[in-house]
Formats: sequence, structure tokens, C-alpha cells
Amino acid sequence: MYETILFEQKGNIAIITINRPDKLNALNKKVLEELYNAFKHCGEVETIWGVILTGSGEKAFVAGADISEINQLTPQTGKEFALKGQSIFNYIEQFPKPVICAVNGFALGGGCELAMACHIRIASENAKFGQPEVNLGIIPGYGGTQRLTRLIGKGNSMYMILTGEMIDAKTALQYGLVSKVVPLNELLNEAEKILNTITSKGRIAITTAIRSINAACELPLSEGLKFEADMFSVCCGTVDFKEGTSAFLEKRKPEFKGK
Ligand code: COA
Repeated sequence: MYETILFEQKGNIAIITINRPDKLNALNKKVLEELYNAFKHCGEVETIWGVILTGSGEKAFVAGADISEINQLTPQTGKEFALKGQSIFNYIEQFPKPVICAVNGFALGGGCELAMACHIRIASENAKFGQPEVNLGIIPGYGGTQRLTRLIGKGNSMYMILTGEMIDAKTALQYGLVSKVVPLNELLNEAEKILNTITSKGRIAITTAIRSINAACELPLSEGLKFEADMFSVCCGTVDFKEGTSAFLEKRKPEFKGK
């Protein structure tokens, strides 16, 4: 069904694996198109309630946009290229179901940008992160200057983007670029464990939390707080809210219905 990605559903989790290991899973047009289609599918299928995104092989998550496709860009097509990638990454960032990126090696350029569009990132010990675009005479175009700055702050973002240097997984953890670092052979298990924890909660609470946290990066504080109150109010109208609070008071485990 797909040429450049592998797709698997495991219980209520979908695992999307970018699969061009001979090119270190570089993002070409086909990968982006298939990635978008796979996420759209995950959005539509009721039984899928969370997504893990990873890369094939032991060397790379994604080593960037495919340089053989970008070297002919002009100012006009370059802008279209950046906007197209950004719109797909925005779709992932705004995805209503939780998305965990399991970074299994190099996450460079568009690979680091793709990881940053996911809701949570964990990394294997061999992972390396970088925005090496300046080495090619360009800057990040799939959201790197914006999301890296929001995630790790201006100083370290300036350092990484202006020098093009890579950082290792330990440093990424220190910077807050990833939430956990684990041995490579435990990476997918750990991602599943985290996602199973999240999917055991009320779906509406999770979706409204994702929307509210994303809003924090867009809105001034006063507007963000209003948005949070609106989302809190949505949760208060759900069956899951009644169930969660009743279960606590009755000293039992809640059984959420996603309603
Ligand atoms: N686009 C297209 N092809 C890429 C690629 C990319 N971003 N990154 C790696 N590849 C290809 C290489 O051309 C090579 O293909 P080949 O075997 O047909 O020659 C293959 O993947 C393996 O990469 P190679 O460079 O031989 O591996 P390495 O271990 O020596 O180096 C990297 C690994 C990640 C340091 C190096 O591949 C690299 O710097 N890649 C580009 C990173 C980058 O600039 N990304 C931002 C793009 S905007």
C-alpha cells in the first residue's frame, strides 16, 4: 500500500516507520505524501488512538530533506517547498490523537523538524540531533527556526542552527528536546509503554490537552488562559469526567469511554 513507509496497527496504536534506510530515511516528496496519508488514515480509524513515528534501521530516524530533490529549488519553488512541508508538519502537531516520535538515530534537518512536530519525543542512546542546513547554504524550512526555539530556547537554538553542529541524545535530554533516552533495543517498547499510559485516559481530556498546550505556543497568556478554560469546560461535559471523578471517590479504577 505504501512505498516509502511501513504501517502497522498494534492494538489501538499505529506504528509508522519511514523506510528508506539506504538513504538514511531522507524525506522526499513521496515520503511526505505517504506520511500525510498515513496520518490521515490514523485520524479516520476509530480503533487507532495513538501513533508512534520512527525510522527504519539502526542508524537514522530521518537524515533530513532529500538533498537530491532540493538542489534545484528557486526562490519561488523553495517557498512552495517550505510551505508544503510546514503544512504536513502542522497537521501532525495539531493531530487530535497523541503522537510519539521514537528517534532511533540521526534526526537532522527535516528529521529534527519532523520529530519536533510530534507531541512527545524519546530517543535511543545513539541518536543525534541537528539542523545542519547552513552547511548547504540554506536555513531550516520545515519549522526548525520556530519549533526549536520554542522547545529549547533562543540561545541553544541560535547555537545549533548557526553552527550546524549535531548534539547527542544526552545533550538533547538536557536541552529538553527529548523527554527520555533509552537503549536502542528498548526504544519501541518504551514508546508503546508511554502511549499505552496515555491511551488509558479519557480521549477528550487528551485531545483538549494537546490543543491547549499547542495554543500556549501561539497565543498571548491571557488568550491562552481563556482557551484553556474553554477546553476545561468541554471536559466537564463528558461522560469520562463523571466516570473519572466517581471512580476516584469510589476508590476504583476508571473505565473511560472516550465520550
Ligand atoms: N538527502 C539525500 N540523501 C541522503 C541524505 C539526505 N539528507 N542523508 C544521507 N543521504 C544518503 C547519502 O547520500 C548516502 O547515499 P549513497 O549511499 O547513495 O551515496 C546514504 O544516504 C548514506 O549516507 P552517508 O553520507 O554515506 O552516511 P554517513 O554515515 O557517512 O553520514 C550523515 C551520515 C547523516 C552525517 C550524512 O549522511 C549527512 O550529513 N547527511 C545529510 C544531512 C543533512 O544535511 N540534512 C539536512 C538536509 S536539508
